[in-house]
Amino acid sequence: MAEKNVTVQLANDHSIPILGLGTWKSKPDEVRKAVIEALEAGYRHIDGAAAYGNEEEVGAGLKEKFSDGTVKREDVFVTTKLWNVDHRPGDVEAACRKSLEKLGLSYVDLYLMHWPFAFQTGKGMAPKGPDGMILADDDIDFVDTWKAMEDLVEKGLTRAIGVSNFNKSQLQRILDLPPKQKICNLQIEITPYLPGNDIKEFCKANGISLTAYSPLGSPDRPLQAGTDPVLLEDPVINEIAKTKGRSPAQIAIRYQIDRGIVVIPKSVTPSRIRENFQVLDFELTSDEVQRIQALDRNFHYITFPASKNAKYYPF
Ligand SMILES: NC(=O)c1ccc[n+]([C@@H]2O[C@H](COP(=O)([O-])OP(=O)(O)OC[C@H]3O[C@@H](n4cnc5c(N)ncnc54)[C@H](OP(=O)(O)O)[C@@H]3O)[C@@H](O)[C@H]2O)c1
Repeated sequence: MAEKNVTVQLANDHSIPILGLGTWKSKPDEVRKAVIEALEAGYRHIDGAAAYGNEEEVGAGLKEKFSDGTVKREDVFVTTKLWNVDHRPGDVEAACRKSLEKLGLSYVDLYLMHWPFAFQTGKGMAPKGPDGMILADDDIDFVDTWKAMEDLVEKGLTRAIGVSNFNKSQLQRILDLPPKQKICNLQIEITPYLPGNDIKEFCKANGISLTAYSPLGSPDRPLQAGTDPVLLEDPVINEIAKTKGRSPAQIAIRYQIDRGIVVIPKSVTPSRIRENFQVLDFELTSDEVQRIQALDRNFHYITFPASKNAKYYPF
């Protein structure tokens, strides 16, 4: 049985469980059950977002497990994210409240700005021009969005705030603001193919905890090229998995935990939800770690190409 309470300290008084359940692409009818399965398996951290379109069902799963006494609200770390159509400072609080209402919670533990760029409003969640490219609103600076997010902590709507998909210079612009609220977490893609060593060092130096999204290489992501490498089929990861009698997913998850990085694999499959949590009862040797380190190929699974013309596109 995995240890349940390994956490990473945030820059405020709170801490985040190092392993959480991802919920992107989890269909509404599946995600309630996935959240229930995860909480029963011992997870105490759920990663969500307004853009995933399933906050109500995530909330339904949480509510069921609060009601039957499996967990208390204060024992579960819940993250959600501000979507790109709500970056106007005057819209931020309403967006957060809407997420809370859907989740059925009075606060979240972490509220993240999902991306640094803003979209035009009133045209749906992903407004696009005739060329298929996103209609960004480059006049909205993420620094102003951040300042509005700071108020959410003071109002008790979230315990901590952070950002996602920011690069170092974008983080630096927030770090340069007069100190009010700390950037408690940066959530970015991190896998053996994209280890993020530089940004990891930067975050460490600035007291920002790091979360690895798509840690399994996001095999169900919407945009895939036939030439993309498949992380869970990587020969080195499979060889290590075989030697240890573990699955490739368990090796990929354990590797990030050993780096002190929070990791949020997504699954709606009960056996995988449990498997992904059973990662603290074995160890990777230094030779195995070195072999995984050598897999770095600076390959992004998630790039949001339709937004690449936005002023604040991070990659
Ligand atoms: N901030 C951002 O912009 C951002 C971007 C991407 C992701 N995220 C967050 O990070 C989470 C994880 O990333 P992700 O969903 O992109 O991808 P992921 O966790 O790398 O991979 C999820 C996929 O792997 C499969 N899977 C799960 N466990 C497995 C196992 N043990 N063996 C084999 N396959 C397994 C899942 O299938 P089944 O579900 O069918 O079991 C699903 O197809 C997201 O759900 C979301 O919460 C955030």
